[in-house]
Amino acid sequence: MKNIYGALCCGLALLAFGCATAPESEAPAPAEAPETPEVQEVQEVQAAPNSKASVTTKFFAKNKLGQTVMQYTLKGAGGVVMDVINYGGKVVRLYLPDKNGESKDCTLGFNDVAGYETVDPYFGSIIGRYGNRIANGLFVIDGVTYRLPTNNEPGGIPCCLHGGAAGWDTKIWDAVPFQNGDTVGVVFTTTSPDGDQGFPGKVEAKVTYTLTPENVWRIEYEAVPDKKTPINLTQHVYFNFNGEAEGTILDHELTLCADKMTPVDAGLIPTGEITPVAGTPFDFTTPHKIGERVDTKGDKQLEYGNGYDHNFVLTNPSQNGELAQAAALYDAKSGRYMEVWTTEPGIQFYCGNFLTDKMVGKQGKPYQFRGGLALETQHYPDSPNQPNFPTTIVQPGQVYKTTTEYRFGTK
Ligand code: GAL
Repeated sequence: MKNIYGALCCGLALLAFGCATAPESEAPAPAEAPETPEVQEVQEVQAAPNSKASVTTKFFAKNKLGQTVMQYTLKGAGGVVMDVINYGGKVVRLYLPDKNGESKDCTLGFNDVAGYETVDPYFGSIIGRYGNRIANGLFVIDGVTYRLPTNNEPGGIPCCLHGGAAGWDTKIWDAVPFQNGDTVGVVFTTTSPDGDQGFPGKVEAKVTYTLTPENVWRIEYEAVPDKKTPINLTQHVYFNFNGEAEGTILDHELTLCADKMTPVDAGLIPTGEITPVAGTPFDFTTPHKIGERVDTKGDKQLEYGNGYDHNFVLTNPSQNGELAQAAALYDAKSGRYMEVWTTEPGIQFYCGNFLTDKMVGKQGKPYQFRGGLALETQHYPDSPNQPNFPTTIVQPGQVYKTTTEYRFGTK
């Protein structure tokens, strides 16, 4: 069964992604940042002669503390274009060509920082120090109990979500854009002080976004703590291959290279079990439309999540730092296709069950319930309290290092 499944996932990769060619069309120019007296000049950085790729830097907005947030536009030689900001390393816009070569912004986000500072469900953000939930905001290391302020309470049960109320998604990171020939990117760095959001140890962090000419967005995470501490970094980009604020993602076809998942309780905290997906609405080992089984009556797990909001355990996870395929996503209408490859052992599939029309997107249109989905590569939620999960504890001086790729194409 394992082998057949492995072959399936691989087969899909070769058949679908291998055939996807990057359309030649130019992506539309990203929307302008709102007018402000602070607007700085657009800077083209280290432009490589004869390259279709480029990186440009410009003022994005001020945050509520009056700090300047900058935007970096990564224009890929293969047609993908992304606007990212140094506030939380957020991907504000992500232009993906469709099967006819027409580009559309396919990620959820806001045109200003105020949106991110008020109702933001982590749109496009780097998540740290700990992706997903830690039960009750408590964990013990070497007999010492650490108490993290709780910032979330699904089912009325408090927990620490995504690194706390002022997690790494709210930080202004140092950012250095770069271009090497047709490859462009930004290196984000920051220091999280000892005790940040209740976590032990100072952590030096570096997250590198690279956009390759093959339309691969590679994310490399590095973090070095000076005390024993849990670290679990991810990216919370939301996708909608119909375009942002253009309906739901229920007709997207998803494949997850995962034959098991970690069931949760009413607080969306893993129970500690690792259960097979076979015969359940969680079996995405072959492609299924997300809407097909999301509202299956009587499924307790779907009831707790109000849909899919679960960690899946990869069947054939990364060995020796090689990337392993975790997921594939396809929208037949636009032909947009994506694969997710990672060194992480798990992936959180969240189908936007907390999204509401109170969140108004970049085109001024409200977002819908399930108007976007996230595929967050990660270690399993609540690992510091789950002895049978792979550990997330990093030793002092140890280099935490993971890589994830979102590989975009069409078919
Ligand atoms: C996901 C999480 C969801 C929700 C979302 C942010 O990673 O699994 O339960 O909290 O982030 O709104």
